[in-house]
Amino acid sequence: MAKHDEIEFRFSAPRGAWVGWEDDWAAAERLVARMTLEEKVGFVSVPMGTSEQAPEGALGSAAVNAGLSRLGIPMWDESDASMGVTNPNGIRAQEAVTAFPSLTALGATFCRDAARDMGAAVGAQSRHLGFSVQLAGGMNLIREPRGGRIFEYLGEDVLHSGILAGASVAGVQSQGVVSTLKHYAINPEETGRVMISSDITEKVLRESDLLSFQIAIGHGQPRSIMPGYNLVNRLYASESAFLLNTVLKGDWGFKGFVMSDWGATHSTEHAAWAGLDRQSGWDLDTAHYFGPALADAVRAGRISEARLDDMVIRILAALHSVGALEERRTPRSGPPPAHLDVARRVAEQSIVLLKNDGVLPLDQTAGSRIAVLGATADLGILSGGGSSTVTPPGHVRRKGLGIPQMEFPRIYHAPAPLDAIRARFTGCEVVFLGDDPSGLQPDDTAVVFAEKWACESQDAADLSLDGEQDDLIARVASQSARTVVVLVTPGAVAMPWLGDVSAVLAAWYGGTAGAEAICAVLAGDANPSGRLPVSFPARETDLPRPPMRDPHATTSVPGQPRRGGYVNIDYDIEAADVGYRWHAREGRPAVFPFGFGLSYTRFSYEDVDIAATADGVIEVALTVTNTGDRAGIDTPQVYVAPPPSPDDAGTASVFRLTGWARVALRPGESARVRIICDEVRLIASYDPDKPGWTIMAGDYAVKLARDAAAEPDAQAVVALNERRLPP
Ligand code: BGC
Repeated sequence: MAKHDEIEFRFSAPRGAWVGWEDDWAAAERLVARMTLEEKVGFVSVPMGTSEQAPEGALGSAAVNAGLSRLGIPMWDESDASMGVTNPNGIRAQEAVTAFPSLTALGATFCRDAARDMGAAVGAQSRHLGFSVQLAGGMNLIREPRGGRIFEYLGEDVLHSGILAGASVAGVQSQGVVSTLKHYAINPEETGRVMISSDITEKVLRESDLLSFQIAIGHGQPRSIMPGYNLVNRLYASESAFLLNTVLKGDWGFKGFVMSDWGATHSTEHAAWAGLDRQSGWDLDTAHYFGPALADAVRAGRISEARLDDMVIRILAALHSVGALEERRTPRSGPPPAHLDVARRVAEQSIVLLKNDGVLPLDQTAGSRIAVLGATADLGILSGGGSSTVTPPGHVRRKGLGIPQMEFPRIYHAPAPLDAIRARFTGCEVVFLGDDPSGLQPDDTAVVFAEKWACESQDAADLSLDGEQDDLIARVASQSARTVVVLVTPGAVAMPWLGDVSAVLAAWYGGTAGAEAICAVLAGDANPSGRLPVSFPARETDLPRPPMRDPHATTSVPGQPRRGGYVNIDYDIEAADVGYRWHAREGRPAVFPFGFGLSYTRFSYEDVDIAATADGVIEVALTVTNTGDRAGIDTPQVYVAPPPSPDDAGTASVFRLTGWARVALRPGESARVRIICDEVRLIASYDPDKPGWTIMAGDYAVKLARDAAAEPDAQAVVALNERRLPP
């Protein structure tokens, strides 16, 4: 039996700013020293690159800065977003961009190489098309599975999101393009996004969303951070001195710049003193706060020139660090490199096999018949709506959300699942039945494509599939003994028909490569290896906040008159126990938990060693063997439960992910893996009064498992010493 060398998996995030930041700051300081006050102010706001305010020569994108020719600082352009380069309202000529899979799909790979490669591919396309800043780097813990933007986020776990976001940011920036980690912080909901306050106590915020950002920043070193539209503890995130000055720039030593979201700046002095460095999309705001008003504030001494200098230095140092100040960037000739191999690998490895009674891989016996169902299976693969939607050649546009000043269509990416199935299953008869199962024949294998659309600015009302699709699936299942459901969704959905179907694949929004990746899994060319980045709750009443808000009773669009009052959302309900931790704490098991995913092969775990070092690092070593007859990828996971904390009145702590491995094995092959859980803040508790982290002395329960709720394959209790860590 072949044996690999031991493979190590580590997680701890480096502290401090990016390597070489001092040189970038020095270069920026030299430039700023030669600027007039008005010239400095020219850098701290940007209009939308598609508006009348955009300077001549703008490429046409989310934002543009005119630069300063007197000092040789070139104009630069900024584009959305994390899943590819967008082209708002098709303002530029059609570009051969690639729509990469959603970030939730990326989360399902559990693979940091995939995250880095996808980030690098997006960065390369961005750079090719002339951009210097990519508004890529979506991450927010998915606290609300109905959230309108969850497809732009990686999952519900602190470590998992932080590691993958960091890798993705590093990938973008490896191409000489600034990446923007967003939306900082605790921004899980969209309905009323400009009027909701995420209320949460500092201790648990530090232990959850902030820790996840901290990990991502350590690994990715994003040159820019974008606060969300929302308020945090009753202050706009873009004006929260706690979030920006104390935590980000103070405790974490962030040296990049903080850009507001578009239309999310609300004041001049307050915002500037709180740590906001740039007003983005100022023409969407009610005032040009960081324009002439800022110059006046400096002249009047209400803002120090040193603070303005700091804002400009941060921006220029960030651009300098990726080489974007060297010359005016313009699109390179020809189409950008497509990176279809990356898109395909991520899409394939993101697919989670949720159920399989043996129908998959599909029977390809010559002459067998595959009935394809689902009203849009002949259109394309649905994508999420909003500023991040990528529109490659061949996309199909359908009516989406039309709210004042924001038109977010539903975009379907080519190729269509039906075409991909016809191309892959050439020996079979493939028929398309749309949403009418009456043409099903008794021996058919029915493959139903079921979808749910999510869109920026509005949360879903519930977890159901769109329209009448539950009913369609139930009718198909009642007629066909072999019903395979392929979910094209932003995240978790309700599956009332689950017990009646033969197989279910969670395929997320797969983008350009989505349909072919699904076919590869259906056919068995690829062995499903995705793991759920989010829990699939059994019912909405199991969630921390079951009711959703009415989108008509509030304001979700920036720069619009406010409707209704501000709304406080209490995130202390689940506190740091997001997703699977909440389900475990409340004893409300999910239908499919975080980390879950089946395979066409099997893996055994042997010779498990669980140990701890004196500094609180828990290590789990094991031998993974592929005992089935197909190559596959396995993802063993380590969860740790700290001892009850006196701060929490002795309440038992729940298990949280502290590390995982990911190992590709051929049939019969083994690998020795060592999972080193060295991101020890995950098991520490944060004390705002000290301030800092404490790993308590005591007994920590450790389990090796295949998902967050599975019976452990191995478990142990390790004793740790007390250890303090800085914020
Ligand atoms: C979104 C940001 C995006 C910006 C620029 C906003 O609506 O929230 O994520 O980067 O628009 O398009």
